[in-house]
Amino acid sequence: MKVLVTGGAGYIGSHTCLALLAQGHEVVVFDNFSNSKPEVLRRLEQISGTAIACVEGDVCDHSALHQVFSAHNFDAVIHFAGLKAVGESTANPLKYYEVNVCGSRILTEVMLAHQVHCVVFSSSATVYGTPKSVPINESFALYPANPYGHTKAMVETILRDTAAAHTALSAVLLRYFNPAGAHPSGLIGEDPKGIPNNLMPFIAQVAVGKREHLAVFGDDYPTCDGTGVRDYIHVMDLAEGHVAALEQLSRQPGSHVYNLGTGCGYSVLQMLQAFEKACGKTIPYQVQARRDGDIAEYWADPGKAERELGWRAERDVAQMAADTWRWQSNNPEGF
Ligand code: WQD
Repeated sequence: MKVLVTGGAGYIGSHTCLALLAQGHEVVVFDNFSNSKPEVLRRLEQISGTAIACVEGDVCDHSALHQVFSAHNFDAVIHFAGLKAVGESTANPLKYYEVNVCGSRILTEVMLAHQVHCVVFSSSATVYGTPKSVPINESFALYPANPYGHTKAMVETILRDTAAAHTALSAVLLRYFNPAGAHPSGLIGEDPKGIPNNLMPFIAQVAVGKREHLAVFGDDYPTCDGTGVRDYIHVMDLAEGHVAALEQLSRQPGSHVYNLGTGCGYSVLQMLQAFEKACGKTIPYQVQARRDGDIAEYWADPGKAERELGWRAERDVAQMAADTWRWQSNNPEGF
């Protein structure tokens, strides 16, 4: 299949491009490089040995999208382009509604105008908010607790309603838990702008000496060791989950939603210990107050994706730590 990957130069988008190419699909990247760099494309070509077409553009730009759809006969779109910092979304919600919601609406309109009838959407477990219990399955009610989560839930609704109105459209909604890790080559990985919000990239930057210590946001949660527990999923497993969804559902109209997680929860301190083992160093940390909006624990019930997509995560936390360390130690300043 020929696939347009919006945000394809980003962390999950770039790894998904490799998984698509590995299965013989053709990829065109559409990215505005607001949270990524053109160097990523060069690394993807180095790893895959394949030239990758890339168009610099913004999903809010109607005419730029029409141009790229007119230039290529796409079979599907995988839509990653968007903003994803929870804290930033609280400080600047309108920017998030513009990019994440309006951008997705415009993309969907242009797709349909060009008779492209399959979209895989990068959603998030953040749509669940604080779950009534764990593990979380796809039937749980959605209670997003921040503007970022609200935008993801809104786009899910837009795609669900559009698939109901346009009976040829297949809309696949993938709810990620906590992506971590990097491609085993060490050539690509997570490279957040500024101070990392997420745990794994922050730990990695402490390990290479870019940050002094990790702040552990609370050790008084009702969990195994008092620190937050999450379902970390290797980014290559996540990428392969997108390919499985695309291949299973591209010709199944309607909307389909899946959790992409491992079904296992790990605490902050367990992740820190895994990383110390991978890098052979002690990672200094200081316990601080809980972070606003954090919850004690959540992890996925990944059974629906396993049953219906024939996909499940295969890589463990040790591999996430080892692959992250290889990426970060080879690229201490990122791309
Ligand atoms: C994980 C755990 C923190 C940083 C986020 C967002 C969203 C989503 C998934 C895309 C928590 C603790 C973290 C640090 C810490 N991505 N922590 N010190 O909050 O579970 O979810 O990632 O949809 O970005 O929802 O991930 O990595 O920020 O935190 O102690 O410096 O690590 O308290 O327990 P989170 P996270």
